[in-house]
Amino acid sequence: MRVILGVTGCIAAYKSPAVLRELQQKGAEVRVVMTNHAREFIGAATLEGLSGHPVVDQMFQPELNADIRHISLARWGELLLVAPATANALAKFACGIADDFLSTLFLSIRCPALLVPAMNLEMWRHPATRENVRILRERGVDVIEPDLGYLACGAEGEGRMPESSEITVRALTLLASAQGSRGEDLAGVRMVVTAGPTIEDIDPVRYLGNRSSGTMGFSLARAARRRGAEVTLISGSSALEPPDGVRFAPVRSTQEMYRTVMNYFEDAHVVIMAAAVADYRPAEVSAQKVKKGSGSLSLELVPTVDILSELGREKGERILVGFAAETESPVENGRKKLRQKNLDLIVVNDVSRRDIGFGHDMNEVMLIDRGDSVRTFERDTKDRIADRILDRVSAMLADRRLIPEIPGY
Ligand code: CTP
Repeated sequence: MRVILGVTGCIAAYKSPAVLRELQQKGAEVRVVMTNHAREFIGAATLEGLSGHPVVDQMFQPELNADIRHISLARWGELLLVAPATANALAKFACGIADDFLSTLFLSIRCPALLVPAMNLEMWRHPATRENVRILRERGVDVIEPDLGYLACGAEGEGRMPESSEITVRALTLLASAQGSRGEDLAGVRMVVTAGPTIEDIDPVRYLGNRSSGTMGFSLARAARRRGAEVTLISGSSALEPPDGVRFAPVRSTQEMYRTVMNYFEDAHVVIMAAAVADYRPAEVSAQKVKKGSGSLSLELVPTVDILSELGREKGERILVGFAAETESPVENGRKKLRQKNLDLIVVNDVSRRDIGFGHDMNEVMLIDRGDSVRTFERDTKDRIADRILDRVSAMLADRRLIPEIPGY
């Protein structure tokens, strides 16, 4: 695995050595290219020492041999990773400007490119940057969304560079898929995924349910399987076909989902609760069909078991991922649920929107973790969002060393 690490001039450049080290630990050989401005933030000696190779930062560096000129380096690299990527770097890459070594290299590569933007909030939100990211993505360049949090400029918002473990997972997955291998970063991981609605019977013909179709949970199960995990998919009523190679356990009520999840919980490394679980059930289920009367009818409802909270109490070393369906204050409510249910990661959905979420193939979610990193994934297919959620899970597993080594890397 040969990775070219591009470093551009931004305060987050101090995190680049950590990315370099992690890539090397996973078996990659790394060569570093810096821009002139990057030198203002980090010394070339550090990156040279760690990579064991000269750092390239000038178009015309006479002391370097032909192997390091942009064309030969472009041929050498199997992945170009630019972390951090400034707004200026994104703009140059999108416009095809080649006025320094890195931008010239960008035009010469045939391998995949992964860009990790980090900048001030206003610069990230500027229409020019939005447009440049859109253009780059349209051309097949992978761009990681920055984290939301406190920025070096003192503001709070999107713009922070994500953790090195997450960048490494994404880089290795990209490398693996470019090389035609399945990139099984989740091999050896036992994962339980729940999906769909739970249904609470009122009588033999009527029930309480919700509009969940199961798509998000099924996408997660399929993606986790593709990435090598041993997956158990526990689903409430859904019209979807269970993915190949996944153990499938259909359930109906919340109580049944609870019992089934508990069966597999003991052995699981990761549990993802994507199911839309009913919060209440009728106090009694009538054995006979309830007959129509002349007046109004009241139904007494009692709370169901909160499966995720129960799992949170016994989670131990496991990674627990919850979903939050919110119609207002998504970040605040998401953080609250993460703490209350003792989760590692929460995926927040805005269920007030009609163009995403329930019953759609598209979604737009926010990911919040225990370190309070908040990340928004713009409107995308549920399959791609599933992979982004699994990138985070995979990085957490690697951080905790729950699985000894990732085979294939
Ligand atoms: N959940 C669960 N058991 C329940 C209800 C919810 O395990 N009885 C899980 C869901 O699968 C989801 C998370 O808890 O991963 C949050 O679900 P959500 O409906 O957003 O939150 P609630 O805790 O039900 O709170 P509220 O409906 O008041 O927002």
